[in-house]
Amino acid sequence: MANTVVIGAQWGDEAKGKIVDYLAGEADVVVRYNGGNNAGHTVMVGSETYKFHLIPSAILYPDVTPIMADGMVIDPKVCLSELDGLVKRGVVIDNLRISRNAHVIMPYHPLQDRLEEEQKGGKAIGTTARGIGPAYADKASRIGIRMGELVDPKRFKARLTEIMKFKNALIEKVYGAEPMSESAIYEEYSEYAQKLRPFVTDTNFIVAEALAQGKKLMFEGAQGTLLDIDYGTYPFVTSSHTGAGGACIGTGAGPRAIERIIGVGKSYTTRVGAGVFPTELLDETGCYIRERGHEYGTTTGRPRRCGWLDTVAIRFSAMVNGMTGLSLTLLDVLGGLDTLKICKAYKCDGVETTNLPGDWDSITECVPVYDELPGWQEDISGVRKFEDLPANAQAYVRHVESLVGIPVEYISVGPERTQTIVR
Ligand code: IMP
Repeated sequence: MANTVVIGAQWGDEAKGKIVDYLAGEADVVVRYNGGNNAGHTVMVGSETYKFHLIPSAILYPDVTPIMADGMVIDPKVCLSELDGLVKRGVVIDNLRISRNAHVIMPYHPLQDRLEEEQKGGKAIGTTARGIGPAYADKASRIGIRMGELVDPKRFKARLTEIMKFKNALIEKVYGAEPMSESAIYEEYSEYAQKLRPFVTDTNFIVAEALAQGKKLMFEGAQGTLLDIDYGTYPFVTSSHTGAGGACIGTGAGPRAIERIIGVGKSYTTRVGAGVFPTELLDETGCYIRERGHEYGTTTGRPRRCGWLDTVAIRFSAMVNGMTGLSLTLLDVLGGLDTLKICKAYKCDGVETTNLPGDWDSITECVPVYDELPGWQEDISGVRKFEDLPANAQAYVRHVESLVGIPVEYISVGPERTQTIVR
């Protein structure tokens, strides 16, 4: 396996977990580089279902080193509860490594997230309320706490005291909410720190050494390209670098380390939270896709907005990520529909464009231009070879390839590890 980055090509929830799990079996080291417990991965192995928010799902492979790298924001409480759950199910967690540079989500971050959203009223982002944005904002403002500080009692105490003055002033004076107790936080988080200390280290060196030894690395992106802080539909985005570039920024690996970039895209489109969504279906077909695809958030349980596949958006994703291949997921969900539509362009002010306009606000006035294709009625969840797919399903995949200009290397036809077609 070439050193591979797996990223979301849409607005997150592309079923990356499935493909990450599939590829992790071939890797020596799997590095997650962005986001926190705003993510949600479901991995099915045989009759067992595992849900992950923070820990790389590669932990299920005993010979793989899973790394939570520098670019992540880590809620220690969630991390420990996820680890406890894995231990109870007999998973060995000793290989896990957490970067000392990763930032800690402190209890004031989810509070701030909620208060900020409330204050935005009708203009709220629709965040996961996990404190992701405030934690990244503190990182950029240089008032964050890093994992290395959390696990060092003296430094943690001093840093917390320094920051709490500022945080409580913000909570009380700007938001009019109750201040938080510094001593209670210190006590609670010191306990978490003690439990997490054995995992915290300089992960940059592990990554560098693995590269030098010619080991196989997989870099796992969370959320999707259109939620990227720079390339996404700003301001309706998350606060991290979700794209392939994030794999370098968030791990310390140089750009030359990356040999292959797989973009994962659903065979249709979904989005959670507010923001532009040109191919959104507010009709029966949208409901059909939602129910058949179980399109409810793994993290928040929110119903996802559903729509037709938007290749204008995926082409943009392919461009800003330097994508080498696509993984098309949930193709089985589209079964049973008579006609399928694929958005190939937008009509903006009467002019057709195949490029995603950089000004997101203007997209709300654009109308999608669709190609229509006949659907298929067969159940394809048992198919393992491309040639065995119904002709119309094959034609759908080929049409996506021709519109995006990138080969579809993997097709997922069900949640199970084995329900994957490799081309
Ligand atoms: P935040 O990441 O919680 O700050 O949320 C910012 C935006 O990103 C919101 O629209 C969320 O719904 C969206 N978002 C965050 N994480 C995910 C994810 O894992 N899948 C899909 N959407 C997400």
